[in-house]
Amino acid sequence: MQKLIFMGICFVAVSVQAADFESLTIEARSNSKMLGQSLMAVLKTSIQSDGPEAAMTVCNLSAPEIAGSLSKDGWRVGRTALKIRNSDNAPDVWEEQTLSEFTDRIQAGENPLAVEASTVIDGEFRYMKAIPTAEMCVTCHGSKLASPVANKIHELYPADQAVGFDVGDLRGAFTLRKTLQE
Ligand code: HEC
Repeated sequence: MQKLIFMGICFVAVSVQAADFESLTIEARSNSKMLGQSLMAVLKTSIQSDGPEAAMTVCNLSAPEIAGSLSKDGWRVGRTALKIRNSDNAPDVWEEQTLSEFTDRIQAGENPLAVEASTVIDGEFRYMKAIPTAEMCVTCHGSKLASPVANKIHELYPADQAVGFDVGDLRGAFTLRKTLQE
């Protein structure tokens, strides 16, 4: 954590005051927490009432009730991963590098729920928060999918890479960005 803040401050010294950087990080952290909780709740309800095949499109950030509540105050939110299901979620250079670092940090024993990174790139504040694989996730991202689930995924996402995860693995990350004022 100390290392993260230290790196962040060094990196952005030219464009953002340390205090602003810290408060943007706190805001991003709280937004991604809300996002995680909403997605988890919607997924759970949807799987319970309709089953995983019907819930398939729920694990999608464009679900208006989720995206709408979070795109306030100029934040743009998304998710990304090294192994993706939807190619719209492919990482950019910083995201890809950060996901690799997250994998190393979790392997080195850091609590996956607390792994995050902030930076400033091209006038934008950027934040990422690790998403560990939970029990519920392996229904659609695990190694042994039920046939109807696997079939539905192949139908909707023929190039899917987002399977083979075990509980606790880094599934991906929330990625948030906000344009900084001049
Ligand atoms: C009902 C099936 C289902 C469940 C359960 C599920 N997902 Fe997904 N997940 C999907 C689908 C479908 C997509 C592609 C969504 C899209 O089109 O953006 C996806 C996409 C993602 C992405 C975005 C990156 C990518 O691969 O495109 C992440 C991260 C993710 N899921 C994490 C999770 C986590 C963490 C859980 C457990 C809390 C979970 N998912 C549970 C079906 C599911």
